[in-house]
Amino acid sequence: MSNMAQPRISGPLLAGLLLILTAIPVVISIVRMGQIPLGALPADAAKFTAVPLGLFFHAAGGAIFGLLGPLQFSRTMRGRFGRLHRWMGRVFVLAGLALGLTSLRLLWQFPDAGTWILTSARLITGFALIAALGLGLRAAIGRDLARHRAWMIRAYAIGMGAATIALIMFPIYVITGAPLEGYLSDLAFVASWLINIAVGEWVIRRR
Ligand code: HEM
Repeated sequence: MSNMAQPRISGPLLAGLLLILTAIPVVISIVRMGQIPLGALPADAAKFTAVPLGLFFHAAGGAIFGLLGPLQFSRTMRGRFGRLHRWMGRVFVLAGLALGLTSLRLLWQFPDAGTWILTSARLITGFALIAALGLGLRAAIGRDLARHRAWMIRAYAIGMGAATIALIMFPIYVITGAPLEGYLSDLAFVASWLINIAVGEWVIRRR
């Protein structure tokens, strides 16, 4: 076994990086949270007026989950502010559960938003997010901190597939001038979840 130290990113730097990488869906969600009560959803999101509460809680859950995740994973936060970590952890789990449950509600309302590939992927990831949060919470209550960390990283990786797809789609749109559509778009969604899960498993095994 090698004795070489693993290169480490400092807690605040990691939190900042994650916040930048996940900014697109978080900002869209915050904008939607303002548009829904004002009845000002734009034409491309007008269909969501059929499920205003579902979309509102999905957007709110996603924004809170996306903003708290990086802070929760920061070692500095956990080490110096353990009490705050535990309180924010409760909010993070509630937000993640709201995100997962409302993703299933939206899927129920709009089963044809993508091909069967995207519908199946959303169904699997919606349930997987809820399961990972439940397992992470159970491990925290049982003081099994290594398992707690692993399941929370998995939950965050699954939930934030929305951020990775934005990072894939945006440059394609800028370069080609057109969004991906149909099977290509849905495969990009699946790829973004797989990338996140792979990175999450790498982070878990790194220590
Ligand atoms: C497991 C993870 C997730 C699943 C399964 C999921 C599922 C869904 C589904 C089914 C829709 C409706 C799509 C349509 O009918 O066109 C949707 C829309 C949306 N989601 Fe998620 N989502 C997830 C994560 C997130 C996250 C993390 C955020 C924000 C940080 C987010 C923000 C949004 C927003 C803002 C919309 C509305 C789209 C628009 O306004 O054009 N979602 N999501």
